[in-house]
Amino acid sequence: MDKLVIEGGLPLRGSIMASGAKNAALPILIATLLAPGEHTIENVPELVDVSFTLSLLGRIGCPSLATEEDAELGRLRVDTSRVVYSEAPYDVVRKMRASVLALGPLLARTGHAKVSLPGGCAIGVRPIDQHLKGLEALGCKFELSGGYVVGRVEHLKGAEIHLDMPTVTGTENILMAAVLADGRSTIHNAAREPEIIDLAQFLRAMGARIEGEGTGTLHVDGVPALKPARTPHRILPDRIEVGTYLLAGAITGGDVTVVGARADDLAPVLDALRQAGCLVERTADGVRVARSGPLRPVSIETRPHPGFPTDMQAQWMALMTQAEGGAVIKETIFENRFMHVAELLRLGAEVRIDGNTAWVSGPAPLTGAEVMATDLRASASLVLAGLAAGGQTELLRLYHLDRGYGRLVEKLQSLGAAVARVADHVRVAPGSLRAAAAQA
Ligand code: EPU
Repeated sequence: MDKLVIEGGLPLRGSIMASGAKNAALPILIATLLAPGEHTIENVPELVDVSFTLSLLGRIGCPSLATEEDAELGRLRVDTSRVVYSEAPYDVVRKMRASVLALGPLLARTGHAKVSLPGGCAIGVRPIDQHLKGLEALGCKFELSGGYVVGRVEHLKGAEIHLDMPTVTGTENILMAAVLADGRSTIHNAAREPEIIDLAQFLRAMGARIEGEGTGTLHVDGVPALKPARTPHRILPDRIEVGTYLLAGAITGGDVTVVGARADDLAPVLDALRQAGCLVERTADGVRVARSGPLRPVSIETRPHPGFPTDMQAQWMALMTQAEGGAVIKETIFENRFMHVAELLRLGAEVRIDGNTAWVSGPAPLTGAEVMATDLRASASLVLAGLAAGGQTELLRLYHLDRGYGRLVEKLQSLGAAVARVADHVRVAPGSLRAAAAQA
């Protein structure tokens, strides 16, 4: 296994390209199941979760293909002409919870689906009761058997669905079934994330009739069949990846531009950065964040979009360890999303947790240490802390980062960071990465 070695203290400067959004690529790739034929998707990020999704599609009988030229352009083709097995087995679902997104499309395409129950994960229990409630309203019947949800439907029929909370993948699952239901469906309290808008646009390009994406109410008029879109769909930029690099600029007192970033999708994070004393600028083709003065503490509370994203909470906490004063961070989406705190403490951060609230006192001088994370965004927060820490930080369990940050080392190095990815057993001589970064 690999680890990431970081020698912190260098301001990051320069410009990088945003990648396609993981959380849009996964549902969109799975949505290809709804329309038999060949689909072309562009700006697909190079992530382990994308590979898991392609292997799931492969298991279902839908191969994917990318020529060398495709790969360079982030283009992928998926052939969904035949669905052989309408099943998402445990060995795939346990590696990637988003596999549960196959439920709606498989039921809509074949009338049958067998999907392993995802179970809890490092950030919480994460049930799928709302997914099932919505699909049941559309006429699906479910039973639980051997850890699997087995669903059947003879005739999908439009329905009024009221979600108890605006679940992101729940909204996507229900939407993907409703597009092929007979009649009109309305999803109330739907999630409003930009990734839902991207999915709705993709479905519409295949012939679906959807209104209201980006609002809390989605109206869907079912159609008898969908066809692959005529023009390739381009996945929207990853707002969480963008936010993470902008915070890397902020925490190191640097100046980072992310080309392709969409400021509107990141409004609460950019507002918080401004309040913290950073320069935040929309450029002609992206977003720039720079900091020369001290960081001011800014308290945040995570909320469904358009609120402050839970997927940026851990990174914001890393930033606040360097602010001049105390900041309060409240996590309201997941019950167990402070797993990064114990590791930040190892680097010298001062954080106290009580329930879903964390008190961060800054500025705390951080010093490098060996750390490891239990999930993707927690890992990202440790990278940020490592970039601000004196000395060498070693981040173990790099596979979490590989799920959500493509070409991480390359991107950080191009901004001037002293980082390297090496095998776990390799020892990097202290100072050597900084020396290499200075020469680059
Ligand atoms: N919930 C239920 N019942 C349900 C569905 C959700 O109780 O049927 C609860 C969850 O337990 C949670 C809350 O509702 O407390 C919101 O969860 P949501 O369903 O919105 O999360 P998700 O769809 O499982 C997606 C992203 C996550 C992101 C969350 C919140 C994908 C593939 N995943 O998860 O992304 O944190 O929305 O924005 O889109 C990440 O990228 O690191 C990541 C975890």
